[in-house]
Amino acid sequence: MTDDRAPSAPAADGFPPAPGSHDPEALRRRALDALLTARARTATLTDSVEDGELTAQHSPLMSPLVWDLAHIGNQEEQWLLRAVGGRQALRPEIDGLYDAFEHPRSARPSLPLLAPAEARTYASDVRGRALDILEAAPLHEGGRPLERAGFAFGMIAQHEQQHDETMLITHQLRSGPAALTAPVPPDPTDAGSLPGEVLVPAGPFTMGTSAEPWALDNERPAHRREVAAFHLDTSPVTCGAYQRFMADGGYTDPRWWAPEGWDMVREHGLTAPLFWHRDAGQWLRRRFGVTEPVPEDEPVLHVSWYEADAYARWAGRRLPTESEWEKAARHDPATGRSLRYPWGDTDPTPEHANLGQRHLRPARAGAYPAGRAPSGAGQLIGDVWEWTSSDFLPYPGFVAFPYREYSDVFFGPGHKVLRGGSFAVDQVACRGTFRNWDLPVRRQIFSGFRTARDA
Ligand code: AVJ
Ligand code: FE
Repeated sequence: MTDDRAPSAPAADGFPPAPGSHDPEALRRRALDALLTARARTATLTDSVEDGELTAQHSPLMSPLVWDLAHIGNQEEQWLLRAVGGRQALRPEIDGLYDAFEHPRSARPSLPLLAPAEARTYASDVRGRALDILEAAPLHEGGRPLERAGFAFGMIAQHEQQHDETMLITHQLRSGPAALTAPVPPDPTDAGSLPGEVLVPAGPFTMGTSAEPWALDNERPAHRREVAAFHLDTSPVTCGAYQRFMADGGYTDPRWWAPEGWDMVREHGLTAPLFWHRDAGQWLRRRFGVTEPVPEDEPVLHVSWYEADAYARWAGRRLPTESEWEKAARHDPATGRSLRYPWGDTDPTPEHANLGQRHLRPARAGAYPAGRAPSGAGQLIGDVWEWTSSDFLPYPGFVAFPYREYSDVFFGPGHKVLRGGSFAVDQVACRGTFRNWDLPVRRQIFSGFRTARDA
């Protein structure tokens, strides 16, 4: 038995390796656990509706759930069975069907997809073989890059969890009664005494990582960034604050909007976040098949980058840059180091953050005091993905790995960066360095934001 919390020398970038990342057997257990956790969630998301709902298209924005299921299996087959294990394709004829670049989501329902029972069998056949390969794979330093530190296994667990978040979005978009339920998240304990914003003093910090074993290509390498002093909201912007923007004519005044955002407002007649409607003088929202009053002090969800940007301008503020966000989340002024998470280097627990679909909504602003960063900002990890002002760009020294279609083809001004993860993403795919991105018009994702200003 090895102690997977044994101290080890910090890597050159000052970023400590994840617990156990020096120990192949600890990594093997970690990979097994991550794969099993992901599959349990996939099963919940795909077993909670009738087969007819798995093949249906609930929104042209989304794939049928049965596509996600077989795509999860196909990605696992390509990377763990073929690339790592050197196995022959189980079903070479289906690769094209599950290639996200070959068919747009709206076209996927009319493809000759595997039926639900076949897709389940395929994914579980692949999984059985993948676990055999994991058992024997050499995960040590100096091995093949895909196997080193269990990277490919960690990448595939993250991929499945990312699709589990995508499938949860499909659940949110489907009509009909609730298929999923979950307990409410914990309430804040000291929200009343929290300052509205925190000051992050000027100075350099280490952004990104070269040491986290399962960090994806776009999080690498670690590099120094200079950041000017700024103020950042302690918590994400709440539904109550957002309603003040709406009541003040936020959606009717072009002054607050980027030109493309104003075009979007007019073209689609936007007046509120997605899934909100007004009834008898009150704002209601539909959330996983239930209609309920919009909660005042919960972070606002389902807003596009354009709405976040307009709100910030109305408030006399701005969105934080991606470097500001990461410095507020990770920089520890006591040591000058960047932490893996806001609270330190240990993995998330339910005390730290609202992750992993344990709850099907964000926690109220001010919750998770144990999860706060040295800067004083809270709820940076979990709850809602936070839009930043930044375009999705490679870090200096970026190298695409192991495939260009994960990050490289998305770099550029078309995609805005989101940080911090939502209640819908598992911890394996969420950390202080994790980068998500999407089009600035997207609103069905679990997106919110917080605002900043120069100091
Ligand atoms: C990183 C969340 C933007 O869902 O499009 C899944 C993740 N990449 N399969 C996405 C991903 C390939 C990706 N995001
Ligand atoms: Fe995918």
